[in-house]
Amino acid sequence: MTDTLQALTSSILGEINDAKTLDALEQIRVRALGKKGTLAGVMQTLRTLSPEERPVFGQAVNNAKEDLENAIREKKDMLEKEKLMKNLEDGRIDVTLPGVRFPKGTVHPLTQVIEDLEDFFVGLGYEIEDGPELENDHYNFEMMNLSKDHPARAMQDSFYTDETMLLRTHTSPVQARAMLKRKGQPLRIICPGKVYRRDDDDPTHSHQFMQIEGLLIDQGVSMASLRDVLKQMARHLFGEDRDIRLRPSYFPFTEPSVEVDVSYVKKDGTTGYIEILGAGMVHPNVLKMGGYDPDVYRGFAFGVGVERIAILKYGIDDIRHFYTNDLRFLNQFKGVE
Ligand code: PHE
Repeated sequence: MTDTLQALTSSILGEINDAKTLDALEQIRVRALGKKGTLAGVMQTLRTLSPEERPVFGQAVNNAKEDLENAIREKKDMLEKEKLMKNLEDGRIDVTLPGVRFPKGTVHPLTQVIEDLEDFFVGLGYEIEDGPELENDHYNFEMMNLSKDHPARAMQDSFYTDETMLLRTHTSPVQARAMLKRKGQPLRIICPGKVYRRDDDDPTHSHQFMQIEGLLIDQGVSMASLRDVLKQMARHLFGEDRDIRLRPSYFPFTEPSVEVDVSYVKKDGTTGYIEILGAGMVHPNVLKMGGYDPDVYRGFAFGVGVERIAILKYGIDDIRHFYTNDLRFLNQFKGVE
């Protein structure tokens, strides 16, 4: 009997030793030590033994049981450790792997033009101003020398939200706001921003577009100062070989007023001119309303169409491309980070 028990035990010990997984080990444990397991079966045979043999054999079975339990516990510890090590190994982060690349956006071409001109004007000592897009009629028109019944209001079809408030039709109201803020002190500012006019959208018109307003007020300012700044600006934007041309025009807030064209070389080699902005000497009424004595101070002002500049600079054929967020269009302006 004891021999059989020993053979059984060593065979089970062998199995335990060979177990590769915790599951396999558990199955071995149940088969050997479970209620209906091998050792339980062996215990059943006790009854067939003589009273002298029983305690000896019983003791042998208990020892075998203990040996098996110890062996299983040790093996279990070992397998658990192995599993932990494997998990750690599998979960290790390989810091040498290349990272995930995020697609990089681009600066919108209109923003590129604005930032470029901001740099240019800041270099000439201008400050950058901001103003509300929902503007009071008072600033948008009246402070700009356009009283309620002024016929020139018709030049700018407008979006009113009530009797007094409208989406600004130009960035010029910022002139008035800047003047009142400086309380009669000389100033030079630019203001980039969105403006709105009631218009049917087509390749050259948009009900919303952008302008950069410029205003300089000081003593001894003349039309020559204006021309000089605008020529520098045109050359900065389009190249040193460019020239500008001033044509008489009309704006209620400037006198005299001009339309400014920039030169370009036509296909046939001759020189052509394209309009890029409106400008003029600040009207005395506007200076007065802004708190400046027109006998002491003079100013010039200009309003650049940002889309117009971008269209000319990059050869764009439809103004609506700027607003439709088509990546095939936008990805072509990767120049600036
Ligand atoms: N505000 C004018 C416009 O939108 C442009 C302009 C600005 C003209 C400043 C003269 C001086 O058409």
